[in-house]
Amino acid sequence: MKQILQLNTEKLSLGYEEPKGNLLLRKTVSEYLTSKEIDASPSSILIVSGALQALQLISVGLLKRGSVIFHETPSYLNSVHVFQSAGMNLFGIPLDHEGIEYHTISRLKRLHNGALLYTIPSFHNPTGMLMSEKRRQQLLEVCKQASLPIIEDDVYGDLWFDSPPPKPLKANDKQGNVLYIGSISKTLSPGLRIGWLVGPEPVIERLSDIKMQMDYGSSSLSQYAVAQCLKNGMYTEYLERIRKELMYRRDVMLRLLDKYFKHIASWNIPEGGFYIWLRLQSEIHTRKLFYHALHAGILLNPGSIYDGSDQHHLRLSYSYASIEELEKGIIMLANLCKKLRTK
Ligand SMILES: Cc1ncc(COP(=O)(O)O)c(C=O)c1O
Repeated sequence: MKQILQLNTEKLSLGYEEPKGNLLLRKTVSEYLTSKEIDASPSSILIVSGALQALQLISVGLLKRGSVIFHETPSYLNSVHVFQSAGMNLFGIPLDHEGIEYHTISRLKRLHNGALLYTIPSFHNPTGMLMSEKRRQQLLEVCKQASLPIIEDDVYGDLWFDSPPPKPLKANDKQGNVLYIGSISKTLSPGLRIGWLVGPEPVIERLSDIKMQMDYGSSSLSQYAVAQCLKNGMYTEYLERIRKELMYRRDVMLRLLDKYFKHIASWNIPEGGFYIWLRLQSEIHTRKLFYHALHAGILLNPGSIYDGSDQHHLRLSYSYASIEELEKGIIMLANLCKKLRTK
């Protein structure tokens, strides 16, 4: 990062940026999106202060109080309160092994007058799930038929291990029915607070006006740094390194689970992203486990954060803690689970 700022300071202006964000960054994002087969002109891109701000802008600028938002159950959306605090009602739709259960959507739209659907097709938070190519097409088609706009949250899309995920929904969106969200928070740096929202131009115009009223635009220094990283190949290089490291960590975690959790839980094998969705045997209740773990110095992410009625899942992340911490935590957790099971 230091290098970028030193090398190109003559191009650096720290004034207010255009309402949609720095033009060089929007052009660079537009080019980067072509690698995902998304055709987005710079004028249909809004630079935001992270994906979360894109959700905030959508809730303030496009939705009425009381609107119903469909989402996957469980979902990251349940763990943040952007839509709820804007007076929206969240409605969860279950996942099967290919992704969100698309066949109920038309009926649910009629029944509940859904305003839009929020989905994380690639390396879903919290389950790590990857939506299949077929399900992406089915979802797109069903939402088009039902006139239900989609928010596609693709913040983990670049973090694949063996092969890239299927094309984003946005790549096949001919009707402008998909609002696409990307961010560098999960790849480069969450602290830079840079993301992008792609959608039909009138929608982007409207949301950029609102963003201007909210914060006068995202940090010009951060926008400049991200534009340089994307442009000079540093982002791609960095991604290659981070994918390898994440895959290594995933494998360590899987080995630990095999060793210590074989008779206590079941889990998925993520093909990218940060998370393993651990299903504990039904006699272990995560609420009880949470307090015992906290007492032992481990902070857990129980499934109830992502689905209020869940009592049996934990979201495990292999992205942050050191390998030593992961091993220590897994052993302590397995011992706690065994203790609780026998009580
Ligand atoms: C699915 C998903 N979307 C959005 C975000 C927020 O991203 P940002 O830091 O870009 O606001 C997160 C962060 O955990 C996430 O998991």
